[in-house]
Amino acid sequence: MTSIVANNGDPKREIFPELTRDVIDRMKDAENPRLREILSLVVSHVHAIVREAKITHDEWWQTIDFLTRAGKMCSDSRQEFILLSDILGISMLVDAIDHVGGPGLSESTVLGPFYAGQQRELAAGESILLREEESDPLEMRGRVTDSQGRPIANALVEVWQTAPNQLYDVQDENQPDGHLRGSLRTDAAGAYRFRTIMPVSYPIPNDGPAGQLLAAMGRHPFRPAHVHFMISAPGYRTLVTHLFLDGDKYLESDAVFGVKPSLIIRPRLIAGINTVEYDFGLADQRESTRGQVEELRRQRREV
Ligand code: BEZ
Ligand code: FE
Repeated sequence: MTSIVANNGDPKREIFPELTRDVIDRMKDAENPRLREILSLVVSHVHAIVREAKITHDEWWQTIDFLTRAGKMCSDSRQEFILLSDILGISMLVDAIDHVGGPGLSESTVLGPFYAGQQRELAAGESILLREEESDPLEMRGRVTDSQGRPIANALVEVWQTAPNQLYDVQDENQPDGHLRGSLRTDAAGAYRFRTIMPVSYPIPNDGPAGQLLAAMGRHPFRPAHVHFMISAPGYRTLVTHLFLDGDKYLESDAVFGVKPSLIIRPRLIAGINTVEYDFGLADQRESTRGQVEELRRQRREV
């Protein structure tokens, strides 16, 4: 049992430290050591926040109400917790830890909530549009390689983007399902090629708790114009990334912190069509993530 010890108003004494120890100690029989490690950290950090910020009953109730509303907002087509993770920078932090980076490898970014599963397979050079849009055409092409620049044949290249009205097909009942989405296979030289339209910047869904939080933090909900890519091939780590259009006014203030300089593209006019040539480098499945490398270093330091 934990006894409550008043700190007698001494600002230097921690409030109720034995409670934190007790909650953590009671996990000693947990079967999964990783779960125990993570939950112990969650408890100690959340308790530390409550102590440091001197959270009141009223504020804690507001937090529970906020999370409850976020949960109720979720459905098959809406994922409020992904939005919260994204706008608070958590998705990008997890990605920094669990992504394999290095020379010859492409940088990754957030998946976001609008990946809709594998789509119809397109022949090289086909369009991902299912209807005409009043936008400038864009051709995207390049190669998928390993870190040494060797081609990866038959890699699956999945792409998706919003329509000019700033909505994905899954958000807009007036767009045909699968509009501005597609899957392609690289050829023997690792090459991919498809046609689309110039992407536009758009606001992430901001009519729920994530939007309220953004407003409360004094932030806008916009993402700079981009095209999403998910590239996979047996034996390689799946790459989740975007390509962002240079010159977009939200590049410096992406609502989800997803922009990296190596992912910014500048289309060139080739035969009168805006064209982007971009090569992607995939990491070998056996290479270590940044998180694994850091953990190894930490263990070595402790020996
Ligand atoms: C997106 O780019 O589709 C996206 C990413 C994060 C939150 C919302 C949307
Ligand atoms: Fe997007």
